[in-house]
Amino acid sequence: EKDILILGIESSCDETAAAVVKNGREVLSNVISSQIDLHKLYGGVVPEIASRKHIEKINQVIEEAMEEAKVTFEDIDAIGVTYGPGLVGALLVGVAEAKAISYATGIPLVGTHHIEGHVSANYIENKELEPPFLCLIVSGGHTHLVIVKEYGKYEIIGRTRDDAAGEAFDKVARAIGLGYPGGPKIDALAKEGDGKAIAFPRAHIEGAPFDFSFSGVKSAVLNHINHCEMKGIEVNRADIAASFQEAVVDVLVSKTMAAAKEYGMTKIALAGGVASNKGLRRGMELACKKHGLSLFYPSPIYCTDNAAMIASAAYYEYKNGTRHGLDLNAIPNLKI
Ligand code: KG4
Ligand code: ZN
Repeated sequence: EKDILILGIESSCDETAAAVVKNGREVLSNVISSQIDLHKLYGGVVPEIASRKHIEKINQVIEEAMEEAKVTFEDIDAIGVTYGPGLVGALLVGVAEAKAISYATGIPLVGTHHIEGHVSANYIENKELEPPFLCLIVSGGHTHLVIVKEYGKYEIIGRTRDDAAGEAFDKVARAIGLGYPGGPKIDALAKEGDGKAIAFPRAHIEGAPFDFSFSGVKSAVLNHINHCEMKGIEVNRADIAASFQEAVVDVLVSKTMAAAKEYGMTKIALAGGVASNKGLRRGMELACKKHGLSLFYPSPIYCTDNAAMIASAAYYEYKNGTRHGLDLNAIPNLKI
């Protein structure tokens, strides 16, 4: 069979990224231009700045991805581009770029769902992973438990009612003065603290066993800090980081295990920025071992936003026959 090469383009948040992927699983190039240093100054992503920076970088990032993969547009079978969910102005840059290339070259366009990209990141390094499996997606914008029934076919069985897991990490990090993005910093500081030091709440939702809520644990951390300050007790930041992380990991692991049991899933995959959290990986590894399940997760570079995962998702959509016209538009709240 002929090899299929996909050019992936991703610009939904604060990473401008392009990648070339062969047959959905073999990464020929993966170029990421991160804007984190810019947004850091404001303590979070500023949408207007993100859009402008994407415009500045996108051509160069695509050129680099093509050069590194040693391909020309003649070799590319389809362009996979994230068209949602995400920041509308940021998404539009990638979508407009992909449409322009498609119009100029005649290469088919495959609009790709960002979350489907995160799930597909697991295919890159785990060559043996095939649906069906249960995927926990934990990123800065999303927290979902999804059954991947077939390639490109998903059933969402749980989601967050308020903050995303990564958002909670970022907010708690800000509260203890760690800066943005806070997830990796909490992860590192947690190693020096005691996860049992402070009993932060584990939210379980009546009648919705696979839904999440992280606003309570975030508020509990803020209350704990206020309480310490009022009483003149020194705040132990490492203990807060460790105890917060343990509370979040506990909930993520126990709900994932319950969902695996309920839906008869034997394979578990992790995806999204928080999937690189060491506490989460360790917690999932122990639980999966205990319950006889296999666990998959991407390397950190494929957990956070990248275009290789978009190209991988686009490959399976392309094989399923998905094609988009030049009327493809950015959809900020796109459903899976
Ligand atoms: O998937 P991603 O790059 O962007 C979205 O699509 O949202 O995820 C970014 C999120 C941020 O909230 C960041 O703090 C979190 O992932 N994150 C982590 C870790 N690395 C990144 N959270 C906890 N532990 C980490 N090691
Ligand atoms: Zn993402």
